[in-house]
Amino acid sequence: MSKSSETRPLGVALAGFGTVGSGLGRLLVENADIIRRRTGRDVAVRAVLVRDAHKAREVPLPPGAVLTTDPARLVNDPGIDVLVELMGGIDAARGIISAALEHGKHVVTANKALLAEDGLALFRLARRKRRILRYEASVAGAIPVVQALKESLVGNRIESLMGILNGTSNYILSEMTSSGVEFGEALRQAQELGFAEADPTLDIDGHDAAHKLVLLIRLAWGVDYPYAALAVRGIRGMAALDIRFAREFGYRIKLIGQARLAAGGTGAAGDAPLRLEAGVFPALVHHTFLLARVGGAYNALRVDANAAGPLFFHGRGAGSLPTAGAVLADLMAVAREERPNNTGFAESELERAAIVPPEDWRSPYYVRVMVEDTPGVLRDISGCMAAEGISVAQMIQKAGDGTSGVPLVFMTHETTARAMSGALGRAADAGLLREPAVYYRVL
Ligand code: NAP
Ligand code: HSE
Repeated sequence: MSKSSETRPLGVALAGFGTVGSGLGRLLVENADIIRRRTGRDVAVRAVLVRDAHKAREVPLPPGAVLTTDPARLVNDPGIDVLVELMGGIDAARGIISAALEHGKHVVTANKALLAEDGLALFRLARRKRRILRYEASVAGAIPVVQALKESLVGNRIESLMGILNGTSNYILSEMTSSGVEFGEALRQAQELGFAEADPTLDIDGHDAAHKLVLLIRLAWGVDYPYAALAVRGIRGMAALDIRFAREFGYRIKLIGQARLAAGGTGAAGDAPLRLEAGVFPALVHHTFLLARVGGAYNALRVDANAAGPLFFHGRGAGSLPTAGAVLADLMAVAREERPNNTGFAESELERAAIVPPEDWRSPYYVRVMVEDTPGVLRDISGCMAAEGISVAQMIQKAGDGTSGVPLVFMTHETTARAMSGALGRAADAGLLREPAVYYRVL
């Protein structure tokens, strides 16, 4: 853009006018004065792309914008400087973002699924075309963690990231814990409130949190941790019973995304290649930890960095206006004509991270087994654990309901996932389990 372009309105095409897109539509009107004062120019939305042009919409289109169902209309218009992609999904979103970059437009997106699964090609294209590709809203909604990792913390070596990265799952777990609401009802509420993905299995099976973790790993360490290689476990089928037992031990169950440097693989000069332990999993978090207190659709991220020490980010991780505010900040950065800094690293290609197999991670575990209430059963289960070198820290036994046996609940000392599944395999083979065992890591 030339010098004279700095005072003309930034021409925007908006692909998607759902939860986030309509929130952006509102903010562009409500915060027009802030946009002008901070960037020195106006933002003019020229076209809005939707799937169904006849759908009734609660939020009016931005003034002067035309509604269209034709993606070509957005990328061919020379009056459009930046495409804001808020449609979601992979194929159509990839198509329109690629076409916009090819046509020399900048891009702002909230699409973590696309960036995690197929983002490297888009970053490559943006670099070749010298265009900005910004994505603050794709991780943790309103919380500015992308900017923090890409700009504010670049003088640090990041040692670990750990957080609650999916608002829908956190909302479900919080409602199940505090109000005793059933899983299905809590999910329905999260969908109504606009937190869930169009396909909510992405939320409850951990994939949305995994997409965000892949982006955070790239931003923190400048390496590619392939999405398909990430160990991912969600909260589907989480039983109210385990939430209750965890509480009795003083813990809350949270869906956690975690990545940390493995011993001996810090990537420091002369060291072995950067080696990471990363995954998404439900975990017991002690009630005194800040992460245990993150409720509803809020997200949080703890970053441990070698100069800064520990940092804790907390805020709304989903929802219309919180997410739209992050999109608007990206749009305003484009309006200020900032130079592209899309990945936060100077290298054009990200190296593949070395991966620690999830079976080798060490942590304490919570284990619940349903067993026949017969003499010696506790000794037999403990024997299976001892055979794998697992040491039990605490145990409680509850009365059963007479149908599926009695619950035995253990908290173990630190062990590996390999040893834990070995012990439970032994118990199953010995016919001790009335139903599959449930086990979660303890942070
Ligand atoms: P949404 O409410 O389902 O809205 C999607 C919008 O895109 C709708 O306007 C839809 O048109 C349009 N659309 C979808 N597919 C299209 C296609 N193939 N062609 C043209 N238009 C299409 O989704 P959302 O919740 O706003 O999420 C949008 C993006 O933001 C997703 O990538 C999501 O992961 C991300 N995100 C969402 C949140 C959140 O809290 N919701 C937070 C952070 C990031 P119609 O209106 O005609 O159906
Ligand atoms: N579905 C996502 C969540 C939206 O619940 O966190 C925010 O990325």
